[in-house]
Amino acid sequence: MEIQVSLTQNPKQKPQDESQLGFGRIFTDHMFLMNYRKGEGWYNPRIVPYGCFDMDPACMVLHYGQAIFEGTKCYRRADGGLQLFRPQANLARMSRSAARMGMPALDEETALEGLKKLLEVDGDWVPHQDGTSLYIRPTMIATDAHLGVHASNTYLFYIILSPVGAYYKEGLKPVGIYVEDEYVRAVRGGVGFTKCAGNYAASILAGEVAEQKGYAQVLWLDGVEQKYVEEVGSMNMMFAYGNKIVTPMLNGSILPGITRDSILTLARQLGFEVEEKRLAIADIFEDAKAGRLTEAFGTGTAAVISPVGELCWKDEKLTIGGGVIGPVAQKLYDTLTGIQYGRVADENKWVMKL
Ligand code: COI
Repeated sequence: MEIQVSLTQNPKQKPQDESQLGFGRIFTDHMFLMNYRKGEGWYNPRIVPYGCFDMDPACMVLHYGQAIFEGTKCYRRADGGLQLFRPQANLARMSRSAARMGMPALDEETALEGLKKLLEVDGDWVPHQDGTSLYIRPTMIATDAHLGVHASNTYLFYIILSPVGAYYKEGLKPVGIYVEDEYVRAVRGGVGFTKCAGNYAASILAGEVAEQKGYAQVLWLDGVEQKYVEEVGSMNMMFAYGNKIVTPMLNGSILPGITRDSILTLARQLGFEVEEKRLAIADIFEDAKAGRLTEAFGTGTAAVISPVGELCWKDEKLTIGGGVIGPVAQKLYDTLTGIQYGRVADENKWVMKL
C-alpha cells in the first residue's frame, strides 16, 4: 500500500538538554496512521503532522477499552546511523494481543513500512547521548461510535515517537519494588499476556500506593494463590543465583517480553544457566536471606535492565545486592545495549539498520 506523507509547516524545537529527557513527555513532529474497516481491511496508511484526534464521545475504545499498544525503540549508533531492535517481534505480538481482544490482526508489513518512513521524516529526533533513544509507541484502538458491547467494526492504528532517557529516575541504580499482596493484575484465561491498556489501568492504584511507600513499582503475584512471582507491569523479573538466571515461565498471565526473550537468549549464549519456572515469592525471600540469591533485576523495552535492590513483601524488607548493579545484570545490560547501539556484534540478526 502506498503511504501518503503530509509534512508539518510548524516543526517543533527539539530538546536541547538530552540529559533531561525523562520518559514519554515529548513527541516528534509527525505520526503514522492507518484505518481498518471490517470487510475492507487496513487502508489509508499515511504520515501526518503530530496532533490531536477528533473523536466521537461514543467511540468504543473510550467505553469498553479495546486498546492495545507496543513499545520498541530506535537507537543512534556512534557513526550517527539509526537502527531498530526486533521491530517485527513487537508487531507480531500486537497481532497476538489483537486476537485476544477481538481486534483485527495488524497489517504488519505496512505498519513496518510506515514506521520506517516515519523515521525517515523524524529521524533527527533520535537523541545522541548515551542511554537515550527514540521510543516508538504503536497503538490500536476501536473507533466505532456505538454503546453496544461487541467488537468494533472500525479501528485506528497509529505510531507516535518520543525521545527518551531512562524510564526510572534511578537510571541504573537499583530500584525498590513493593510485592503486591492485595490486588492482582491478571488471571488464567484473562488478558495478562496481551499489551492491552486495561492491564496498565488495573495496575495504577497499586502503583500509586507503592510510590507513597517509597517504592518505584509493584511486583505482581499470581491471581489465584498470590504465591508465585508474575511481573512488574513495566518489566519482566529475573533472579540470579550466581551464574544461574531464574525467571517466571510464560503462563498466559504475564507479558512475553521481547527484552525478556532477548536477555534469556543472550544469557544462554554468554554461558549462564537459565531456568524458566514457577517461582514462589517465599522461596525468593528465603534464598536471598540464605545468600543463595545474588541479584534481582527487571527487563523491558522502556526499563532496559533495571536492578532491584529491595523487595518489600507483607512489611518484610529484603535487601538484594550492595546498592549497585550486580555483575550478571551489568554483563547482560552491556551486551544488550551494545547490540542495540551497534557497539557489539549482532549475532542473532535482531538489528534492522535504517
Ligand atoms: C515498554 O517497556 O515499552 C512498556 O510498554 C512498559 C511501560 C512503559 C508501559
